[in-house]
Formats: sequence, C-alpha cells, structure tokens
Amino acid sequence: MARPVKPGWITAKTADTNDLYERSVQCPESEVDLIIQAWDEIRGREPVTLREDFCGTSAVAREWVQRNDFCTVVGVDLNSDVLAWASNRIEKDLTQQQRSRIQLIEHDVMTIQSGSVDCVLAMNFSYYGFKKRETLKQYFTSVYNSLVDDGLFLLDAYGGSDSFLEMDEERDLDGFTYVWDQHCVNPITGDIVNYIHFEFPDGSKIKRAFTYEWRFWTLPEIRDVLLESGFSSVNVYWEGTDEDGEGDGVWSIDTRGEACAGWVAYIAAVK
Ligand SMILES: C[S@@+](CC[C@H](N)C(=O)[O-])C[C@H]1O[C@@H](n2cnc3c(N)ncnc32)[C@H](O)[C@@H]1O
Repeated sequence: MARPVKPGWITAKTADTNDLYERSVQCPESEVDLIIQAWDEIRGREPVTLREDFCGTSAVAREWVQRNDFCTVVGVDLNSDVLAWASNRIEKDLTQQQRSRIQLIEHDVMTIQSGSVDCVLAMNFSYYGFKKRETLKQYFTSVYNSLVDDGLFLLDAYGGSDSFLEMDEERDLDGFTYVWDQHCVNPITGDIVNYIHFEFPDGSKIKRAFTYEWRFWTLPEIRDVLLESGFSSVNVYWEGTDEDGEGDGVWSIDTRGEACAGWVAYIAAVK
C-alpha cells in the first residue's frame, strides 16, 4: 500500500533508473583499481588506452579519465538512451580536459572498429548475452584483434550453487531497495532470465527496470573459448575472504576457487 511521501524520498515516479543501477551494482573505483593491478602484475606497465564494451552509463569510463590527465577511453554500447544519459553525466561531472579523453560510440560490440587499444573491458556479465558458443568466440576474437601486441582483455563472471536457482535477493540501499531476481533458469539450454527491480519507502516499485536474457556461461567454458579465440593465457582473479568468510575486496590470481553459494570473479585474458 502507498505511504505518504516524505521530503527527500525517492519514489517510482521520481527515480532515475540509471542512477539507481550505478548505485546498486557498480563500483567503478574498485574496477579501475583492478585494471591497474592486473596490468602491473601481468604486464609490468600501466595501460593508457581503454575500450569499455557494453559501457552503459559510462561509470568506469568516467572514473578512468579522472585518474590522471592522459588516459583515454572509448565506450561502446548499442542503446542510444543510456548513451544520452551517459553524455549528460559526462558533461556535468567532468572537466573539459577529462571530457576530451572520452568518446562514446553507439555500436554493436561485435562489429566495432575502434582501432588498437591496450585494454578492452566487458563487465557485469554483459557478454552472457551472446548465447551461442560460436557467437561468443566471434566476439572474443574481435576483441583479440582490437588489442595491441601486449594487450589484456578484462571481463567478469559469476557463479556458485545459487546461480543455478530461481530466486530473489534483496539489498537495502540508501533510499531504495535493490532486488536481483533470477527469474528463469533452464538447466537444459543454460538460458537464464534475470531482472532488476527497485522498491521505494512509499511502497511504490519499478518492476523489471532492467532485463537480462543470457546464457549462463561457466568459468571453464569462458576460459576455453578465450583460448580458442587466440588468447595465449587466461588468469582468474579470485577474491580473498575475511575472518567471517565474506569477500574482503582483495583479488589475486588463483587456480583453486571455493565452491560457495555465490561468487564473482575477474578474468584477465592475455594476448
Ligand atoms: C549489464 S549492462 C552493463 C553496464 C556496465 N558495463 C556495467 O558494468 O554495469 C549491459 C549493457 O550492454 C549493452 N549491450 C548489450 N548488448 C550489446 C551489444 N551487442 N553491443 C553493445 N552494447 C550492448 C546494453 O545496452 C547495456 O547498456
């Protein structure tokens, strides 16, 4: 039931779903830290040119150009609405010098011709949208061909026993509740449908603010397809745990993960 709206409350009517998305699922500072860490550990240098595939609101691209005054980034997404939102945010949040080092391109990542870059990023599992093995391989091969000779491709993956279940997970955030809804999981095909819903203190809701129709790829499958696409090696960054067994935000290259209910890992594929 709807409750009277208090000053400062976000409601379904006033919410900016892209802003809620960033606040719910993204942490661009730690993503950029991870990029720099992987480059330092694997290549012993800092990357300069980045391409953020599936860039969405451009959160990572904006963080990237704020780290120094010379790094550049190309963000690629095929959704013109989210790119318009990103352009506004870039205009509002960044200096002219920072803006001059970001380019947003409305394009399918599968066929983008961006020129050679040090690093390509594909985060928040967006490539799970490529449901067939040959399509995934075609995308990974095109990334491989876009990288400089010592380039790295950084992507993420999720898994764990819960990821095979149809279930909801709620998190109370500042002024709203984020709901991750694993709505449909087909164990025969690997097809999954996930939604993000938002709920507000006045009782209003935005159901299915975001929809993801994906193939659930496992880490060994992703690794195999990366190697078949030409990458010379594939490193998995696994998160450490604190004394309560919770993720501690410290990532290191590992070959033995923990068979827990839910995990996220980063992958560094080496050209
Ligand atoms: C899950 S969001 C990821 C946003 C952001 N990268 C992040 O880490 O949270 C997926 C984005 O990928 C875009 N997208 C999906 N398929 C695409 C494709 N083939 N080429 C370009 N963009 C695509 C969607 O428009 C959406 O903005």
